[in-house]
Amino acid sequence: MLVTYNLKAFAFAVTVIMTASLLRCVSVVGQLRVGFYAKTCPSAESIIRKVVQDSTADDPKIAAVLLRLQFHDCFVQGCDASILISTEHGEIEAGGNLGVGGFEIVEDAKTQLEGVCPGVVSCADIVALAARDAVLSVQGPFYEVPTGRRDGRISSVSLAENLPEVDDPIDILKSKFNNKGLSDTDLVLLSAGAHTIGLTACFFMQTRLYNFNSSGGSDPAINPELLPQLQAKCPLGGDVNVKIPLDWGSELTFDDQILRNIKNGFGVIASDARLYDDDNTRRIIDSYVGLASADFMADFAGAMVKMGNIDVKTGLEGEIRRDCRRVN
Ligand code: HEM
Repeated sequence: MLVTYNLKAFAFAVTVIMTASLLRCVSVVGQLRVGFYAKTCPSAESIIRKVVQDSTADDPKIAAVLLRLQFHDCFVQGCDASILISTEHGEIEAGGNLGVGGFEIVEDAKTQLEGVCPGVVSCADIVALAARDAVLSVQGPFYEVPTGRRDGRISSVSLAENLPEVDDPIDILKSKFNNKGLSDTDLVLLSAGAHTIGLTACFFMQTRLYNFNSSGGSDPAINPELLPQLQAKCPLGGDVNVKIPLDWGSELTFDDQILRNIKNGFGVIASDARLYDDDNTRRIIDSYVGLASADFMADFAGAMVKMGNIDVKTGLEGEIRRDCRRVN
């Protein structure tokens, strides 16, 4: 009787230990970590950094392109490089993905990586690391990028319909970020932080300049000093492909000027201006205006890491694509 009882207790203890270690495995599998490729492909991060450094040295505008690419990757089915898959009716065809690029730089890095450690480094990690190195190339903050993402196998335009849009009201912008696990502070840090560099096509300015809220006029939030300048660069009926800076007067370096721009009505695209419409996002902007630029940069870096975690595929999920443009 005593023996049976002890055997049952022993079996129970073994089950508890096995379940606990299985759970521990699952939680490790479900997580990214800094240095994921340290043993399997030690040169991975330096190869990617060199490709980004060379591309941005050739054309500094590439930094913004690579940073935007990660946002558009992560917001549709998580950070799984699904945006790179070249297929009929793929994600890239979505209206919200208009102008997104940088694919050839990711492919360049991938080709080099396949040469040294085939089948190891995911396209999704290349996208995330390239964005980090791009930020660094424009004097933005350096941050460690946890890696171990795996690539998705699906890319469909219909899945990319809910991207944040330039003319979305602030409540919609907030909820689109909140739905991805990003707070109002992340919304401010990521969109203001990223738009401290880069350009927008006049295409995205049309409603704001000429038919704001179907009024037939411009957005009253635009500072009267800025309005004629924007209208001169993007005239009604003019070429909508002309590009203008997102961070008026400070588009080439990563800094916190954009916060003061937004506060003073010098935000260029509508979605940046909307950040000053709402009590909470306005308070967040004001709080960073009062802080050192280093604090804004450090918190932007934290928000980038958070964005890079959205719905990641790890462990046995997804695959490591051999060619970023095609599923295996
Ligand atoms: C609130 C949501 C956002 C909206 C509505 C938005 C919208 C836009 C639009 C309309 C452009 C101009 C695109 C073009 O003309 O090709 C743009 C550019 C850009 N966006 Fe955003 N964006 C948002 C958030 C973000 C985030 C979270 C990031 C990255 C973390 C980001 C990174 C960029 C960059 C770097 C550019 C400049 C691209 C270039 O110069 O090629 N954006 N964004």
